Amino acid sequence: MNFFLRGNSARNGGILLAAACFLSACDRVVPEAKDSELSDSSAELIGAAVAKALMESLGGQLKGALESGGPVGAVEVCQQVAMPLTAAAGGSLEGVSVRRTSLKTRNPMNAPDAVDREVLETMATQSPPQVTLRREGEVTRYYQPLVVQELCLKCHGNPATFPAELTSVLASLYPEDTATGYAVGDLRGAIRVDVKQP
Ligand code: HEC
Repeated sequence: MNFFLRGNSARNGGILLAAACFLSACDRVVPEAKDSELSDSSAELIGAAVAKALMESLGGQLKGALESGGPVGAVEVCQQVAMPLTAAAGGSLEGVSVRRTSLKTRNPMNAPDAVDREVLETMATQSPPQVTLRREGEVTRYYQPLVVQELCLKCHGNPATFPAELTSVLASLYPEDTATGYAVGDLRGAIRVDVKQP
């Protein structure tokens, strides 16, 4: 099993929704690959591009929804679009699939498997958390860390600060929600892009 921790530049200091982060995910120089690592390099390129596209589409939906409906309306939009947008992110590419995961999930469908958990636990010790590749048989998993920004606190911060309406909509849509109590800079979770390579 291969386990690469690729050095990411300090530029990605955790700005999830800003263009700087998307660029740093993409314009990294692909390291000179040995033959055995070639497939992991292409998985890295595909993973970076797909994760970037998903962050842009989810981030755009989230910002628009927050502006028009505040956190309560945005939760409803999120609930309807987050899973389909995530599933669609890799949909047009054969052998590519995408999910989001976290050590503390809001939607239990995003729960980590054993490999996800191990990767997230390692990322949580890194400052800033690093893009991570894991090879599992024919599949290379690309993990893009998601770091908590000020904006995220509206729905993932201290529940005592939430408006009552938000607390109640979260409780009804996500009775198993554990994704609160975060602070800016914490690791929130990761986008995982699976790239199948025979
Ligand atoms: C308007 C409220 C809201 C805001 C703001 C928000 N989220 Fe979420 N988040 C949600 C909801 C609702 C879900 C569950 C969506 C689903 O069904 O997959 C979720 C799920 C997630 C997940 C998937 C794992 C899980 O817990 O199920 C991640 C990762 C995540 N959010 C990260 C972020 C980050 C990073 C930010 C800030 C950029 C952010 N969220 C801002 C409401 C929000």
